[in-house]
Amino acid sequence: MNINQKTIDALYELINQCFQMNRFCDSLVSVLGVKFAMNQTSDKIHKNGICHYFPSLSDSIGDACLERYNIIVKYGATTEEPSDYASVTEMIEKLEERLIEFQNMYMGMMKISFENNDLHIYSELSNFIEELNKIVGQSILLKDKIGYYGEDRIMDFDHDINNFWNL
Ligand SMILES: [Fe+2]
Repeated sequence: MNINQKTIDALYELINQCFQMNRFCDSLVSVLGVKFAMNQTSDKIHKNGICHYFPSLSDSIGDACLERYNIIVKYGATTEEPSDYASVTEMIEKLEERLIEFQNMYMGMMKISFENNDLHIYSELSNFIEELNKIVGQSILLKDKIGYYGEDRIMDFDHDINNFWNL
């Protein structure tokens, strides 16, 4: 099979975290669209590069790092994510925090594959991280922007979102 079990186990965990992130993110955009009527921002985060990035990343990892070597992908369970938030600022801050956490976890995964001499896996993971880096960058910008707009101008933020959406 030509991949270390430690790397395989870490890949399973990474795939599981992709679905956890999708659950977190889908839940977040639902609150954003319904409770705060920020339909444009919700739509961008949902379909234009963030929420739907995660299941697609999971497919790419499963395909290129496991199934290619005859290993079946195992899907674990996800846990509940918040279904309400007090403010848009809180949501955008949480989004940035979770994306950075995921990026760090992803880099940990890259390290595990490297240290176990699974350089073929490491090389695939290096390709996939580029999009993630852009997503993290976008979330940092969103957090800065909501800071300047302020909670009392969330409708202007939503109106202007196209001007600072880079994905
Ligand atoms: Fe979705």
